[in-house]
Amino acid sequence: MTVKCNRPIDYFDIPPPISAAQQHGVYPQLNHDERARLNFVSACNRVVTTCLSPGNQTAYDAEELPAFQKQHGSLPNSRHEDSRAMNANSFQRLWGATRRNLMEIRQQAGAAVVLRQLDELAERARQLNDGDDNLVLDKLVKIPPYVAEVDHHCMPGSYYRELVDGDVSPAANYDIGFFVTTGGTVGPLNDEAGKAIAQWVKDSARQHRPEFKPRRILDIGVAAGHNIVPIAKMFPDAQVTALDVSAPMLRYAHARAKSLGVQNIRFVQMSGEDLSAFDDESFDWVQTSVFLHELSAKALPRVLSECRRVLKPGGLTLHLEQPQYDDNMPIFEQFMRDWDAYNNSEPFWTALHAIDMDTALAATGFDASDVFHAELTRAHTQAPTDGDNQAGQDFGREPVWHAYGAWRSDWGANHGQR
Ligand SMILES: C[S@@+](CC[C@H](N)C(=O)[O-])C[C@H]1O[C@@H](n2cnc3c(N)ncnc32)[C@H](O)[C@@H]1O
Repeated sequence: MTVKCNRPIDYFDIPPPISAAQQHGVYPQLNHDERARLNFVSACNRVVTTCLSPGNQTAYDAEELPAFQKQHGSLPNSRHEDSRAMNANSFQRLWGATRRNLMEIRQQAGAAVVLRQLDELAERARQLNDGDDNLVLDKLVKIPPYVAEVDHHCMPGSYYRELVDGDVSPAANYDIGFFVTTGGTVGPLNDEAGKAIAQWVKDSARQHRPEFKPRRILDIGVAAGHNIVPIAKMFPDAQVTALDVSAPMLRYAHARAKSLGVQNIRFVQMSGEDLSAFDDESFDWVQTSVFLHELSAKALPRVLSECRRVLKPGGLTLHLEQPQYDDNMPIFEQFMRDWDAYNNSEPFWTALHAIDMDTALAATGFDASDVFHAELTRAHTQAPTDGDNQAGQDFGREPVWHAYGAWRSDWGANHGQR
């Protein structure tokens, strides 16, 4: 089979170099060779997403679908049947192996950058963090097995490994690596999703809930803080609490936010599975971004129901993820989106994306009529889009996030009494 690239590789397809990422107080120093290595990975990713990715559809339509139909007398009716057909396809294997290798190279290149400046990074974070009440670490918090036993997206040591006292290296690697994997499409601060959430909530509240003025916001699984910072900036009168189980991520996130001039976020080491430190109905807005897909099947309902418990009447819960696999999504697209589950150390990805989030949210106590699902794109941010550029953070399109959430409907009487 011949697969033709559907667009020329021209100058405009080159993603922004790593030097276009915005610096902040704990951003790692990059020398010439390190920048060149990361730029190479970024450019290769762009070729994979723009030129190679469409070949999967061609391979599916021209080879695997007819072969499947011939063998079974029917079309595949699930992403699992698609995967049985496509996993043996030589083009798909080439594409998948290239993506996997690029991810491993990205992780190794990023690790080399942060490991050579391990102590300096820890020291820079310490200078911003020491004595600041907005960083609360707790040695007793255990790393749950679904984090401890997975090197997420091929990241050695995942989010939590600590090699020196005060280590921030997993977060520093995550920060530079995220820009490379997404080819800069989520902005110089990797924060386009957070900007989209903040803008969407502001617009949506203005239109439908003018009384909604969040004073206390809770974010779970904050990681390096990419997406909570724009939310905290959009709602400067709110006090934000941002949780994570990983001390290195929190040290980095706090130092990064502080150096960016954002002071209304308190970073706390705590698991989203147990929010007993917080009273019932104590937050106006409880949310996660690109977090749920890393939870085990047992942890997910616990986190969702804790989110419901601590939410005030009239409040908003919102979970940002890539789109769920619903009946409207072609099974070939589901198969393509599922690649990360089997090839990129995201073992909970496939199960999370297959559940019905409306039902999962209603099961925690929300009225089914209060549950919503919204598509957020960069249209919800001020960032300029780059026209028909098809490179993105999934398998080759513009970043698209779906918000699954609910408003607690019992605002009225309760609101005035709080
Ligand atoms: C994919 S990152 C989240 C990205 C982040 N929300 C953002 O918007 O940039 C997942 C993070 O969740 C954290 N995490 C995993 N399980 C957790 C739990 N039970 N409670 C709190 N944080 C958790 C990990 O340590 C990691 O930092």
